Amino acid sequence: MPDKILVVDDEQDIVKVLSKILELAGHEVIAAFNGVEALQAVRQRNPQLVLLDYMMPDMTGLEVLKQIKEFSEETYVVMVTGRGSEEVAASVMKAGASDYVIKPFVREQITTVVKDTLRIRSAEIKAKRLQDEIQELNRDLERKVEERTKDLVETQDRLIHQTNLASLGEMSGGMAHEIRNPLNSIALYSQIMMEELIEDDPKREYLTKIMSDVDRINAIVTNLNVFSRRIKRDKKPIHLLSPIRASLRTLSTQFMKNDIKVKLDMEPDIPEVLASAEEMEEVFDHLLVNAIHAMPQGGDILIQARKMRGSSKAEFLRDTPPAEREYVEIKLKDSGIGIEKEALGKIFIPFYTTKSDWEGTGLGLSVVDRVINDHGGIINVESEPGKGATFIIRLPALESGTQFSAA
Ligand SMILES: Nc1ncnc2c1ncn2[C@@H]1O[C@H](COP(=O)(O)OP(=O)(O)O)[C@@H](O)[C@H]1O
Ligand SMILES: [Mg+2]
Repeated sequence: MPDKILVVDDEQDIVKVLSKILELAGHEVIAAFNGVEALQAVRQRNPQLVLLDYMMPDMTGLEVLKQIKEFSEETYVVMVTGRGSEEVAASVMKAGASDYVIKPFVREQITTVVKDTLRIRSAEIKAKRLQDEIQELNRDLERKVEERTKDLVETQDRLIHQTNLASLGEMSGGMAHEIRNPLNSIALYSQIMMEELIEDDPKREYLTKIMSDVDRINAIVTNLNVFSRRIKRDKKPIHLLSPIRASLRTLSTQFMKNDIKVKLDMEPDIPEVLASAEEMEEVFDHLLVNAIHAMPQGGDILIQARKMRGSSKAEFLRDTPPAEREYVEIKLKDSGIGIEKEALGKIFIPFYTTKSDWEGTGLGLSVVDRVINDHGGIINVESEPGKGATFIIRLPALESGTQFSAA
């Protein structure tokens, strides 16, 4: 396609001569005889180059030049001027002209300036496009670096958290072990004393209280033991449906008593995971008991399971995992009281609880977190006060190659 060149001059003869020269050089020529026409032609025909007369009766060439440049950066303008003063040249160049020609001119001058300007124009436009592209790439890169950094910080936070938990677990495991023996003897002697007291001895009440507190300490010690991971239980390929079902069975009377409906929604082709069924059952016990506590007025629990892909733990945190590894995702959603924003970061910390003495010890979720982490998985929570809570567990699926057959 030939380049379109707009020739603007109030003198008909000059327009004619210029048009001839340019047409002979192979360009498509548009003619205009005043500033208004020129601007109109620029808008409608979008020429690559304008040969613009400096002195015109209606609008000055300088004014037209400014308006052309405002309309389109990519329309290049060569000023044609009768006054050869350097001042004029400087002012038109400053206003955005690419070059200038002084009347009277010879043919050679015109063809040369047009050729050069067109060449410079296409080079500059190309450079500009490249620059834009580079800028876009840069922005892209910055975004990616930002995302990765965020991932890294999150992963690091989790690692620190886990290291802290590991040493805490170590200590609490030791404590649990030390507490167990004296606790056993307290329980034993209380029982013996109870047997020795007559039916309506008032001391029976004290003993009953001691024995129920012993039970409570015992429950804490058991949780501390799981939390400390002193007792490692065997992992086998299992389908998560079985511990979920077992846990639902254990709690079924509680659901009924508390007017809670449970719905199970599993995708059909959930892969197996390498896990301890017992520990997984404990995980679901803790989560479901929490859900029951969160719904004193009754409500709904929805358990969903699906297969998903992700590449690392950090990828889970955003919801756009690139396809690399397969995970099983379990979502456990209740319609309960929900969790305050400030509490969201604390609920997995050992002994954090918002419950009264008898309802909670604050160890449930820390046990859950430890168990899931120990299985190479991750747990997250989404919740708002009054809008229920959703716990999301992701566990690495067994590769289909190593998968044990159910038969
Ligand atoms: N489903 C839930 N809905 C609302 N709050 C919850 C839920 N699950 C856990 N929480 C909050 O997290 C806290 C810690 O839970 P957990 O570690 O199981 O300890 P506990 O249940 O003994 O308090 C709870 O006290 C409660 O405030
Ligand atoms: Mg709990």
